Amino acid sequence: MTLRKMTVALAAGVLLCAGGARAEELALVAGSIGKDISELRMQLDAFEKESGHTVKIVEMPASTTDQFGQYRLWLSAGNEDVDVYRTDVIWAPQLAASFVDLAEAMKDEIPKHNPSIIQSQMVDDKLVAFPMYTDAPALYYRSDLLEKYGKEPPKTWSELTEIAQEIQDKEREAGNTQMNGFVFQGAPYEGLTCDGLEWVASNGGGQIVEPDGEITINNEKAAAAIEMAKGWVGTIAPQGVLSYKEEEARGVWQTGNAVFMRNWPYAYALSAGEDSAVKGKFDVVPLPAGEGGKSAACLGGWNLAVSKYSQHQDAAIALVKFLGSEAAQKERAINSSRLPTIPTLYDDPEIAEAQPIVAEWGEVVENAVPRPSAPTQRQYNEVSKEFWTAVNETLSGRGTAADNLDQLEKRLRRLKRSAWE
Ligand code: GLC
Repeated sequence: MTLRKMTVALAAGVLLCAGGARAEELALVAGSIGKDISELRMQLDAFEKESGHTVKIVEMPASTTDQFGQYRLWLSAGNEDVDVYRTDVIWAPQLAASFVDLAEAMKDEIPKHNPSIIQSQMVDDKLVAFPMYTDAPALYYRSDLLEKYGKEPPKTWSELTEIAQEIQDKEREAGNTQMNGFVFQGAPYEGLTCDGLEWVASNGGGQIVEPDGEITINNEKAAAAIEMAKGWVGTIAPQGVLSYKEEEARGVWQTGNAVFMRNWPYAYALSAGEDSAVKGKFDVVPLPAGEGGKSAACLGGWNLAVSKYSQHQDAAIALVKFLGSEAAQKERAINSSRLPTIPTLYDDPEIAEAQPIVAEWGEVVENAVPRPSAPTQRQYNEVSKEFWTAVNETLSGRGTAADNLDQLEKRLRRLKRSAWE
């Protein structure tokens, strides 16, 4: 640009990027767990430098359920203040109508990504959101304590229950009074749908609603799995687990007060951090299986969607491309042990060196169990809420699993009749 043109542009109040495009001010909204926001800021700084655009983060609470409620309100009101939404893998069908189709803009990027993750974001041939990272949980265990008591990491939930009880009791007797056997996500929110689905599916009790839309949750194996979890509350898990989300569980674990924790891979990098009491004293394995069942990890993950109400859609798409790129995913894997959606990165030696969980988790991701967001379409959040409520009620001692699942089935049938049949 000549100096004269630049002066004219500046006088008109228009800032231009290096390539001559207009420099936009974008707003990206994202929830905050672990180091997510500081990592995001670092990557946004790099994007700003490369593109000439500026990006502001609108920070949301940690709970995906709270984020969903807010986003649904903003989007139904046609909010123009947010350009890019960081979206949970389960939301695509419910929010599809408010987002721009990214299929064309991302056509060169799509083939690099895991096809089933891309598929999870497709609604009626529209690519609703573009993947940033995927998620599949681990069983975190204290390798020092298991070694001290001569135990192997558990392969079944009953082994976990036994080991957790024994180590908790012995550690408490030895003066470690704050020690807990197992922490997980027991609060009534989406995270409990994940934990509950894992207990049920790993016990051969199905996926709540099957991919073909059949409601299967009211069965004996599912009830037995939830009763088993109820047995943990107040024995190997603190009573407070009924209000734990990811970060509360991590807080107990990372201060050294739990033998086992169920959590997502982000907790790996943080647990290994300088300020962590469990640094060098822990490892991960896939979640245990039920008797006669097999380990089941709930498929999670986060994507980026461009609002159709955004006034800066081209810049917003460039931002999504940048944050979903191989380079950004690699950096995120190295710094925060977030799992890439690009399969080749699972063989990347630098990632494997920095965060061994990533290299080990390719198969867990491949076999992860999706929540029934695709078959329940625009009712997923309501279906999930009914499920997490039934599970939380049971864990809290309000009704047996069998009775609560019976009620749940009736509620799901009503929802199905009203919407997704
Ligand atoms: C993680 C998962 C997400 C899930 C949430 C539940 O953030 O990536 O998919 O819904 O946990 O708390």
